[in-house]
Amino acid sequence: DLGGQFPPGFKFGAGTSSYQVEGAWNVSDKGVNILDKFVHDHPTSIKDLSNGDVACDSYHNWERDVEMAAELGLDYYRFSLSWSRILPTGFPNKISKDGVKYYNKLINGLQAKGIEAMVTIYHWDLPLPLQELGGWTNPLIADWFEDYARVVYTQFGDRVKLWLTVNEPISFCDGSYNTGVGAPGVLSPDVGAYICNKHVLLAHAKAWRLYDKEFRPKFNGRVSLANNLLWIEPYSEEYTDLAELALQNSAGRYSHPIFSEAGGWPPGVEEVIAKVCLEKGYPRSTFPSFSKEEIELVKGTYDYYGMNHYTSRLIREAHPDEKLLPWPYGDAPDLKAKMTVSDKWPATVVPWFYVNPKGIRKQLAWLKQQYGDLEIMITENGFPTYHGLNDTARIDYYKKNLKQILLSINKDGVNVTHYTAWSLMDNFEWADGYTTKFGLYEVDFNDPKRTRTPRESAIYYASVIKNRSLDIPSNTTKPK
Ligand code: BGC
Repeated sequence: DLGGQFPPGFKFGAGTSSYQVEGAWNVSDKGVNILDKFVHDHPTSIKDLSNGDVACDSYHNWERDVEMAAELGLDYYRFSLSWSRILPTGFPNKISKDGVKYYNKLINGLQAKGIEAMVTIYHWDLPLPLQELGGWTNPLIADWFEDYARVVYTQFGDRVKLWLTVNEPISFCDGSYNTGVGAPGVLSPDVGAYICNKHVLLAHAKAWRLYDKEFRPKFNGRVSLANNLLWIEPYSEEYTDLAELALQNSAGRYSHPIFSEAGGWPPGVEEVIAKVCLEKGYPRSTFPSFSKEEIELVKGTYDYYGMNHYTSRLIREAHPDEKLLPWPYGDAPDLKAKMTVSDKWPATVVPWFYVNPKGIRKQLAWLKQQYGDLEIMITENGFPTYHGLNDTARIDYYKKNLKQILLSINKDGVNVTHYTAWSLMDNFEWADGYTTKFGLYEVDFNDPKRTRTPRESAIYYASVIKNRSLDIPSNTTKPK
């Protein structure tokens, strides 16, 4: 049983993000962002001492990227906009003509091949001048983000119908501030992440409401955000409540305020965190509440659910003699719990990544149970390897995950409508630099042209897309 057919109208895509692929970090009038600064100031925090200055050079190779999307038969291509490429100062006092031109070429190039654009407005590359004013810890950022969103809706909204405001608050708030190992390199355990969380949610809400009021009437597109959902299961039955609390603390923290009927922080989480703040001597203000007005502002600001999913964890209370397995996004300082993995879940080349395809189906069921019958778009799912074109492990991962998604649609009645493979091509994989590869296409980073070559998984994915099921003929041919 391969799970049946994908429903009519189901759409397949692949994704990238600006800093990870564009390069051209200082061409024309592009401003400096926190990633540019971070990799230049802290070269040793990247495994291979690399950076995204050139990356895949998609700024110059966009035509090849479009061609690859066409070779795969993608219905849409997900990419992100570089805030400081469009607004060099971070503010709309100046709009870069060259920045806008680049994205116009890309969007029009896709359109010419019948490929839609799914555009992420923010994938972690905050303009440096905004960071210097406090970045995501300054409440005014909600308005700065809204101003930026207005520019991009105005410039691209006639052609872009699928928008994601922000990618993975858990990664850039919790991940960065709890460990200090990601840009902006500010270590503020316990405190920074929660302040960041609240402002990201307000920024998202303002950008969604702006679209809803001023742009939806003429452009009729849809807007959401991409949440990274780490599936968490109880280690044994006695930890069922703990696992639910951990899910609320990770998935729920960015979902409950937007997608639940009640709005605000998820059940249980605010209490636990308030207790921890108090125990550690922090004032309550370090985990900012939402006012009634803010709850209303954020609630309901979605047109669909955007879900990134990669891996799973088991959870139980920490035992003093056990080493805690870190969350992939820094510690969870508010939950005295141990994260571990099942011995049934194969490890990969990346320490945070274990393969548990059933996790994605359970995660989808959890979303439906928590927030009702939402339309869900999988905005990222993919698998890490080292170099090489013969990536059978990646094919296996895609096949098993897609099967679970099919079961979720066809057996559990979950309304999944889009699937985005991460990534279209190898790219700058954050702290791993270029050592970890997520690409359907291999990129030769030693070649100034950054030549892209399809992997076996690209051929596999292209045939899934063509057949609209996992039941594919064996004589599949290679994309050019
Ligand atoms: C991020 C991507 C990243 C991928 C693989 C996701 O959390 O959105 O930028 O490349 O994971 O680590």
